[in-house]
Amino acid sequence: MSAASALLPPRAGVRRLDPILVDRIAAGEVVERPASAVKELVENAIDAGARAVEVTIEAGGRRLIRVVDDGIGMGAEDLALAVERHATSKLPDGDLTRIGSLGFRGEALPSIGAVSRLAITSRTAEGEGVSLTVESGLKGPVRPAPAARGTRIEVTDLFAATPARLKFLKSDRAETAAVAEVLRRLAVAQPQVRFTLRTESGSPTVFPAEAEVNEAATLRRLGSVLGPDFPANAVPLSMAREGFSLEGHVGLPTFHRGAGTHIHFVVNGRPVRDRLLLGAVRGAYADTMSSDRHPVLALYLACEPGLVDVNVHPAKTELRFREPGLVRALVVSAIHEALRRAGARSSTTGARAALDALRPSVSGIGGPVGEGRFTVHTGAAAPSLMPRPARTLFSGPSLAAPAGWRAPAPAMPDRSGFAETPQAAFAHDFAQPDLPPAADLRPEAGAEEADAHPLGAARAQIHGTYIVAQTRDGIVLVDQHAAHERLVYERLKAERAGGGVACQGLLIPDVVEMAPDAADRLVEAAPELERLGLSLEAFGPGAVLIRAVPAALAGGSVKNLVLDVLDALEASGVEEGGPAGAGDPDPVSRRLDALLSRMSCHGSIRAGRRLKPEEMNALLRQMEATPLSGSCNHGRPTFVSLGLADIERLFGRR
Ligand SMILES: Nc1ncnc2c1ncn2[C@@H]1O[C@H](COP(=O)(O)OP(=O)(O)OP(=O)(O)O)[C@@H](O)[C@H]1O
Ligand SMILES: [Mg+2]
Repeated sequence: MSAASALLPPRAGVRRLDPILVDRIAAGEVVERPASAVKELVENAIDAGARAVEVTIEAGGRRLIRVVDDGIGMGAEDLALAVERHATSKLPDGDLTRIGSLGFRGEALPSIGAVSRLAITSRTAEGEGVSLTVESGLKGPVRPAPAARGTRIEVTDLFAATPARLKFLKSDRAETAAVAEVLRRLAVAQPQVRFTLRTESGSPTVFPAEAEVNEAATLRRLGSVLGPDFPANAVPLSMAREGFSLEGHVGLPTFHRGAGTHIHFVVNGRPVRDRLLLGAVRGAYADTMSSDRHPVLALYLACEPGLVDVNVHPAKTELRFREPGLVRALVVSAIHEALRRAGARSSTTGARAALDALRPSVSGIGGPVGEGRFTVHTGAAAPSLMPRPARTLFSGPSLAAPAGWRAPAPAMPDRSGFAETPQAAFAHDFAQPDLPPAADLRPEAGAEEADAHPLGAARAQIHGTYIVAQTRDGIVLVDQHAAHERLVYERLKAERAGGGVACQGLLIPDVVEMAPDAADRLVEAAPELERLGLSLEAFGPGAVLIRAVPAALAGGSVKNLVLDVLDALEASGVEEGGPAGAGDPDPVSRRLDALLSRMSCHGSIRAGRRLKPEEMNALLRQMEATPLSGSCNHGRPTFVSLGLADIERLFGRR
């Protein structure tokens, strides 16, 4: 028998399905796994105005799901109707365009009742307690029962009557994790509600209710859901546009995770997973985070219910915006604005981890070291660097030109690499065998005032990679490559936005050889690359002729630059076909930025290059004046800072 004929049983005439079967089929859409039943029941509790919701599960929810709330409850009549299909109290005027509650389909309870044993006990403020059971779709009578105000629902033996579905469930542990995730999402959406989750193992998870409705309360709730490090590594945002208002907290680019599960969207109080919003977030962080990392954030979008359609999916986790472009632009610009405001802040976690690593070796010597954890003055504790008028405090000549710290580029005969070439120009300053670079601390004139700057005055370069700077109340350690990469990138982007990337013609055009198809690809992209300051043309099969490079990158290896651009072109070609582009504000712009990002990574001072003191200070001043300079283009921090108090504590002086 062929596969096709297996799908065509003998025709048996059309007949109406048994109502219980109908319910089971419908249940398949709404109740996919225990976590989806939990989601429906907890949403019902929230719709009922509950202040506290307690969830208990056994065997991942398969054996038992119990949800107890202190909401308005149900009387006998309502209870009898509540478990019927298409019965709801939430669409009083039948208007699907004005949905103000989490539920509206009147399907959750009958669906759950169709695939489990469902027992409901409920009492309103005025009425008597009542209870009702539904067994595999068969509804029992409503009976009086003692009950506290609110509703208590028990779902036992979920899917016992539909073994096919049971087979698709994962391990108890995985199902438990899914339930916990559902609760976290609802907890982010509803900070004023207390949530408790009890499982067989360990102590319950509790998200205490936030009494107030304000930013601080939301941030506290986010801290308890997203982790205690989140508040210190997040920036608040708030922006409104044409009927939409967006609030929330977004994690710094340096505070990233390996999966997107810590991205929360709440639209009109409803937690959603939405491709458009996800795409917008991806686009907003594209510049500051490598594509395999994910930000941590919670965004709350509010609008007239009519501007968004939530009746798109049975589980109500997807939606459709009437004006997707507007929403996307709002999300992207609000995140950009917030990250720019955060300026050079960088994640607190790296420095703290480093300090924690230092501690045992210190206490091993026997000296007392303060109690508790170190508070490291990176990120949140450090004031934002952006608003400081750094330029007025510092009068070094290197500030005059944005790239002034860079060694002069022209006429370097040796093009072996960007990194090595400029160093050759002042190698004699630092590379004397009897004078290790770290010992060379000649501060430049003006360095004393410089330590008034947020990133302080450069004191040394160590291992040819890190700049040590002294600030008024501590030290700053800068990763010179990461920092420079960000600076070059921001400069290139600013140039592109302002009419074109400045390019510098090569005195002698450079011929770069490569595989013929690679050369074709480059030539094809030539008009686009021209706008990015890279001017090239075909030079026979398997070679291109480079006439100009971006001025910000001049002086380095043309060949390496071109090969890097080629890689980036190929990578962006792959991405174009994938879903990643969905929700992007402007794919062309993102592609160009990706190219610039790759170019700046390539063209930046490599680790290992020695810097003169004035170069180091100019780099610090430039970081202070550059947006997003707290992280490199891949989301790594560009600097960490350590307060004097912390250092003193390390040595037991405090
Ligand atoms: N915990 C609860 N407290 C008070 N009333 C409840 C509770 N749970 C359900 N109800 C009542 O039962 C009705 C049916 O619930 P059900 O979840 O099946 O549908 P719904 O919430 O209206 O829509 P949806 O199918 O989209 O969830 C609700 O409209 C509500 O009036
Ligand atoms: Mg419901």
